[in-house]
Amino acid sequence: MTGVDWGALRAAARDAMSRAYAPYSGYPVGVAALVDDGRTITGCNVENASYGLGLCAECGLVSELHNSGGGRLTHFTCVDGRGEVLVPCGRCRQLLYEFGGPDLLLETPAGILPLSEMLPQAFGPEHLTK
Ligand code: THU
Repeated sequence: MTGVDWGALRAAARDAMSRAYAPYSGYPVGVAALVDDGRTITGCNVENASYGLGLCAECGLVSELHNSGGGRLTHFTCVDGRGEVLVPCGRCRQLLYEFGGPDLLLETPAGILPLSEMLPQAFGPEHLTK
């Protein structure tokens, strides 16, 4: 996939962020990704009165991935409540690895980086089949 419009992807993430449910942290997050068939999918964080049960925005994104037809993630961005590019948390890098692998491209404050640089020596599905 060439000529990816990262600005449009960021706008989709900001739109999702506007629907976040983050009354406890006060820290809304939105994410958006391209799928290998051209779909754009999004997610927002959804917290819970039982704090530890809160769902990161990436949880919603991978759920939408499957609920809208599956496929592989190719490009991903994440924004905070000001709409600024945010790095995904460690657990969510693992979620992304499952469905995008090492070549998934992430927009980060340090530029566009492959997931292999954000999650080096990742554990993944391939380990379970060895
Ligand atoms: N959060 C996400 O949704 N994704 C991330 O990658 C970073 C953190 C959320 C979880 C929690 O609702 C809030 O940000 C503060 O940690």
